[in-house]
Amino acid sequence: MKKTLTYKILEKNLLTGTLKTGNEISVKVNQTLTQDSTGTMVYLQLEAMCIKDIKTDLSVAYIDHNTLQAGFENADDHEFIKSAAAKYGIIYSKPGNGICHQLHLERFGKPGDILIGSDSHTPTCGGLGMLSIGCGGLDVAVGMAKGSYYLKAPKVLNIELIGKLNPWVSAKDIILYILKELTVKGGVGYIVEYSGNGVKELSLTDRATITNMGAELGATTSIFPSDEITKDFLTRQCREKDFITLSADVDAVYDKKIKINLDEIQPMTAIPHSPDNVAQVASLNNAKIDQVAIGSCTNSSYTDLMKVAKILKGKKVHKDVSLVISPGSSNILKMMADNGALGDLIASGARILEAACGPCIGMGQAPKSNAISLRTFNRNFKGRCGTKNADVYLVSPETAAVSSITGYLTDPSTCGDMPKVEIPEKFHVSENYFIYPLKDRNNLKVVMGPNIKPFPINKALTPTLDGKLLLKTGDNITTDDIMPSNAKLLPFRSNIPELSKYCFGTLLDDFHIRATENNGGFVIGGENYGQGSSREHAALVPLYLGVKAVIAKSFARIHKTNLINSGILPFVFKHKDDYKNFDAFDALEINDLHNALDHGLEIILINKTKDITTQLIFEGSLRDIEILKLGGYLNWAKNSDI
Ligand code: F3S
Repeated sequence: MKKTLTYKILEKNLLTGTLKTGNEISVKVNQTLTQDSTGTMVYLQLEAMCIKDIKTDLSVAYIDHNTLQAGFENADDHEFIKSAAAKYGIIYSKPGNGICHQLHLERFGKPGDILIGSDSHTPTCGGLGMLSIGCGGLDVAVGMAKGSYYLKAPKVLNIELIGKLNPWVSAKDIILYILKELTVKGGVGYIVEYSGNGVKELSLTDRATITNMGAELGATTSIFPSDEITKDFLTRQCREKDFITLSADVDAVYDKKIKINLDEIQPMTAIPHSPDNVAQVASLNNAKIDQVAIGSCTNSSYTDLMKVAKILKGKKVHKDVSLVISPGSSNILKMMADNGALGDLIASGARILEAACGPCIGMGQAPKSNAISLRTFNRNFKGRCGTKNADVYLVSPETAAVSSITGYLTDPSTCGDMPKVEIPEKFHVSENYFIYPLKDRNNLKVVMGPNIKPFPINKALTPTLDGKLLLKTGDNITTDDIMPSNAKLLPFRSNIPELSKYCFGTLLDDFHIRATENNGGFVIGGENYGQGSSREHAALVPLYLGVKAVIAKSFARIHKTNLINSGILPFVFKHKDDYKNFDAFDALEINDLHNALDHGLEIILINKTKDITTQLIFEGSLRDIEILKLGGYLNWAKNSDI
């Protein structure tokens, strides 16, 4: 059978299982990445596995999320990660070097390899033909320790791009347009593979913008072929040796196919508070804005920022607008300093931030109350920017830059000729922010400051689960809702007891008290429970508070895995309508769990308060069941060869 690009890479790396859609397989992991926000937990988990060396070809620990050092906490975390990286043979990227995905694309991503990362936007490297999957931190820790990763052989969705982009329309507009068509659930269960003549229209960083926001489609990952454009990018990054040509077979068989005509796309924006709530910028012209933030792993490449600099050159940022710019990497910042573009940005009145995630994760630059903030980022969930009542619109760098001058949301295609960006023959590729591991790593110790607290490890599953329904949520609850992440909380990513005080904080002030007083219990959710960021804290903190099972109408992929990895049972309602039969504080019980899981029997949830029973389904593999019975992935991995 003619093969998709995805299945060619999976086949090359296959370790166990049969490569057939829906089957559980394990694959060799070539590379891993972590960022500091999830990384502290990853390295605590790696340490708990008592290994000597990692088994990947290359692993990188980036510091890009919690770079503010207003107290000792973040600095302690950085030192811990740096020492763990040195001990296990991992490359360490110092704070200020840039955003993990942009840096990985520039310095390490390889066509045809498999990368897993403890960040949901790891698919960014799909732009250069790498199978790059975002997953839970424990998956990454095990990936490093064992060199393997388990997944369900995915369905493949082919998006064929045809036609030519209009002036002032760019990659961000394409992916927003696709999100409008497919919604945040449209990619669930799929790897998205791009093909068609339109692919040739896109630079490598354009492609990476599109694969980056494949995460917002709910896709396992997204991938572009590796072609002359990939070769050109790698050559300019002085990495031509990493290039291989890679594409799907002609007439490859896909599970689903759609066609997007690039000619039809206009400048787009995602309206608050969901990335798929998309409209044409022209339909919202004249909305007055307060803040513009340019950067993030979605739109912080050299080309993106040079376009912004050209638009702003000789112009002035509107008096009522705060324009903040975070470059994707220190190398980009250096090149823009050398070629004068940085001077143009500063002269226009832009505020230049560190090469880091910064405002994307609410690490500084929270807008004022009730503000309208235009951002080139990938998420606009309520409160993520740090201001609960602010409205965040996602836009392209072109729309952001033009709007920062006019002071209102402006369709850039009304602005005459689009500036052209020349790409330098060779990129600046300083290695000064990287620390490479030593060959002799004997006797190196991991440094744990007072902010590093032990993380919860579950016990083996008991046959009966009982307890109160602690919380019933609505649809599309994000991991931000479950475990909020803001500048105040980020320093406690390695301190689960402290974080637990804020669990479900966007929904309920006192979940932690409720959970503690009731000795833990159950949570019920609606559709797409746990969408958004990959943060495993959204499972580890509920575990710490005694949550035993989450019952939902449906789950987001990474969060469901994180629940299983923590030993928390994720069930779905057999009949979604049964959701309405539950209220907070109902007394719930599930009996005979081992037997039911082992033999695929119906799982019966007893609501003792209302005297009714409800049928539940466990959707997982035999290995997932083994993991749950042992009390989580860490316990399982310690007892397993791969
Ligand atoms: Fe960082 Fe935001 Fe991307 S937090 S990794 S820039 S989604």
